[in-house]
Amino acid sequence: MTIQPDTKAAANPTKTFFVRMITRDISLEDCILDLIDNSVDGAWKCEGSKPVGLAEGADLQKYRIDIEALPDHFRIIDNCGGMSLTEAVEHAFSFGRQATDKTDDYSIGVYGIGMKRAVFKLGEDIRVRSTFLDDEEMVSFAVPIKVGKWLENDTPPWDFDLEEDAPLANPGVEILVHSLTPGAVTSFGNPAFLQNLKRTIARDYSLHLARGLTITVNGEIIQGWKIELRQGNDFAPMRIEYQQNIDGSPVTVEIIGGMAAPPPDDVEPDEEDEGDKRFGWYVVCNGRIVLAADKTTISGWDTDGWPQWHRQYSGFMGVILFTSANAASLPLTTTKRSVDVSSEIYRQARPKMREVTRKWIDYTNIRKQAAEEAKRKEATAVAVSIQQIPLLDTVRLPTLVTKPKERVANVSYSVSLTRLKKLSSSLGNINLPYRDVGLKSFEYTYDDLVGGE
Ligand SMILES: Nc1ncnc2c1ncn2[C@@H]1O[C@H](COP(=O)(O)OP(=O)(O)O)[C@@H](O)[C@H]1O
Ligand SMILES: [Mg+2]
Repeated sequence: MTIQPDTKAAANPTKTFFVRMITRDISLEDCILDLIDNSVDGAWKCEGSKPVGLAEGADLQKYRIDIEALPDHFRIIDNCGGMSLTEAVEHAFSFGRQATDKTDDYSIGVYGIGMKRAVFKLGEDIRVRSTFLDDEEMVSFAVPIKVGKWLENDTPPWDFDLEEDAPLANPGVEILVHSLTPGAVTSFGNPAFLQNLKRTIARDYSLHLARGLTITVNGEIIQGWKIELRQGNDFAPMRIEYQQNIDGSPVTVEIIGGMAAPPPDDVEPDEEDEGDKRFGWYVVCNGRIVLAADKTTISGWDTDGWPQWHRQYSGFMGVILFTSANAASLPLTTTKRSVDVSSEIYRQARPKMREVTRKWIDYTNIRKQAAEEAKRKEATAVAVSIQQIPLLDTVRLPTLVTKPKERVANVSYSVSLTRLKKLSSSLGNINLPYRDVGLKSFEYTYDDLVGGE
């Protein structure tokens, strides 16, 4: 058989393949975070897409994201400006960003997949609504998606219908999902899942919540974690900042580290101690915490001469922030749940992270021999939010005076019990422990023969 010169092997994807693949390796919780990221990106855009580093004083007080996660439906609605009709028509619903899509906006969205992945993971009957102010004119539309129906036909072009809709109360986006997937039904009926979701939001959006953003889950307002370090007298956190070019895009790196709380008296692990869960390293990409309270090799523990995390080091908090107009230059994994440890920019930051961690480790070691003095000093340092910490090359920790350990001798001897009782009686207390009788008689003889100190 001869093969015609223009014979090709087909490589077109199927819709089912896409839907299965993109939803496979991501948790429901991470999908919801992806939707929150989009709202946050919207709010940031309304604020003029400024850099999202700590120093920038953007106020997010007027923005709000409400989430309903219930066994019969899921809904997220924001007042973060909405998506324009052009955005919806041209790229918001396509799988993956095109090379020409604009990315110079300090967003956390990079790959152009989050929203689609999230809605497919959530359910079968989807409605994305948007209200957008276009040149003083309110434009409102909806994109309804019935997943089963859409999957029936793989013939390109792949698109979704778009229709006019009633306006939302404010410019913003609403995503409503009915006919939830079995996984979503189970999770949204499970108090532990919801508790975890709220905790994750409180932690990962703490920098946005600190700027005034409101997020609610099933009607409950989420209070963000406070990321604070202690400062005062002998304590000052490190805070450095530098820029690096990654594939032509400048990335700003900020590293902050120091004492968030005095170390514990007891070094045994204490699972009950909520505070303990907050210590360790935080990695932040364009304002979003992608790795929190890390105590693993990802932030460097147990590598390059760092010891493994141990409860002795509790009280330490370090934060590294990467900020770039081009989110693709950030050391971000696709699920935004960790940092790409092999990336150049992260590898170069590691020695600086190590330096501040090392100082804290040394401090907690010395502290064991001067615990009283250390505690007195630690008590005078006050909590300062990381936004307010001034620049400083290296962390400052107290120099503790440790007393050199004196060599000791143990004395042990046996005497008649009658004579010991007589002596303890003469020392003023017939019930004195034997050990004290021994010590007192030593002191007595010492004073007499050697003299006072
Ligand atoms: N809540 C929202 N507000 C404004 N625009 C949104 C919102 N959600 C999604 N979009 C638009 O949809 C696009 C696609 O979102 P997504 O699939 O998550 O990919 P990415 O965030 O990587 O661009 C976004 O870039 C944005 O233009
Ligand atoms: Mg996104």
